[in-house]
Amino acid sequence: MRHKILSEGAKELSYEIREIVKKADLIQRNGQTIIWENIGDPIRKHNIVPEWMRTIISDLAKENASYSYCPSKGVIETRRFLADLNNQKGGAQIKADDILFFNGLGDAIAKAYQFINSNLRVIGPSPAYSTHSSAEAAHAHQEPLTYKLDPDNHWYPDLEDLYNKVKYNPNIIGILIINPDNPTGMVYPLEILQKIVAIAKEFDLFILSDEIYLNITYNGAIAYSLAEVIGDVPGIAMKGISKEFPWPGSRCGWMEYYNRGKDADFDKFCSALDNAKMIEVCSTTLPQLAIPKIMSDPRYIPYRKSLNETIGKRSQIIAEILGQVPQLKFNPTYGAFYNTIVFKEDVLHDKQTLPIAHEGNRALVEKWVSEPGIDLDKRFVYYMLAAKGICVVPISSFCSDLKGFRVTLLEEDETLLRQTFTDIKDAIVAYLAS
Ligand SMILES: Cc1ncc(COP(=O)(O)O)c(C=O)c1O
Repeated sequence: MRHKILSEGAKELSYEIREIVKKADLIQRNGQTIIWENIGDPIRKHNIVPEWMRTIISDLAKENASYSYCPSKGVIETRRFLADLNNQKGGAQIKADDILFFNGLGDAIAKAYQFINSNLRVIGPSPAYSTHSSAEAAHAHQEPLTYKLDPDNHWYPDLEDLYNKVKYNPNIIGILIINPDNPTGMVYPLEILQKIVAIAKEFDLFILSDEIYLNITYNGAIAYSLAEVIGDVPGIAMKGISKEFPWPGSRCGWMEYYNRGKDADFDKFCSALDNAKMIEVCSTTLPQLAIPKIMSDPRYIPYRKSLNETIGKRSQIIAEILGQVPQLKFNPTYGAFYNTIVFKEDVLHDKQTLPIAHEGNRALVEKWVSEPGIDLDKRFVYYMLAAKGICVVPISSFCSDLKGFRVTLLEEDETLLRQTFTDIKDAIVAYLAS
């Protein structure tokens, strides 16, 4: 090529949640059954979308109008419905025009960072959900900029770390929060959210709040939305139906802009996002039409409540099995459907192994772990994959210095759930003792 095609930022694009699948596929080809604990797709874990919800969607699919483009910002009745839903909580008030639909939050995330001046940064949590951290890093042509979530303090954000990084890095223009969090399953307490808003206010920043799991909390926790705490600070909440309905294949999510009128620069940023979607024409129509019908159905809230209770029960089962392993830092979860389990310092080294019966798979793992500088948690994850057929995601891939792995709380079959987590525990014990 006459010029180098790729931008510097392109090397920051990685998504281990799907990368690990390539390795698991190789192991599977040699006859090993795989338990997929890597991806947050409830449908893949046999969640059945209720019949009444599928009837609403199939009725919509029979209407000709569902097949057309919709307005660029999204179906107006749906945006009015969602604005009302937000406004009922009494926090930052919005109008239908403060909502912009996307083809899933993946699309929203990619666009959000793309239009920020490349010298400016949005600081996000570590461990980081890679869609945010990769997109932000790619826009800035630099490594992700993160504040710590602390496994020794319930995975709450380390506010001193956040404050100092914001204070000493004048290029930071925004703070990302993910509440409830992926990958830790942590739910931000009210005071922490208020303190983050205070930092944003002090340094004249905007807040980006990924709330895709906002209505997935359990074991007594509730998640406060950004709108409830933001006061007059500019901010954007990102919401969607991939996890909540759950309908990840709908590719449907949206942004809500708060306090657009309070800052001219922020207002221009929101307009640029609106224009970017206009250039694309619009986002998926049919799922938008389904949102008010499903969310206002009297069966919706009880349905979500019962599903949350089930996830909470799984969270307790996992805590029962892994909570007592002395070499782990284990935090019970309260929201979303993941847990990040971290090895204590110095318990991992590069000689540990697990017995792998299949010769071909043993050879594969030995090749993978011989890669120079491989993270110690990746070694464990690869050994467990081949020895037990359990596919989890190493936490070092979530922009973190910690060593551990992420699991999901999605297994519908309780016997299989108990078996999987007992196998994980046995793998940890055997690996550490080897
Ligand atoms: C925190 C978070 N945000 C966004 C997404 C992407 O959601 P969508 O399916 O709407 O693209 C995910 C998916 O796992 C997620 O965990």
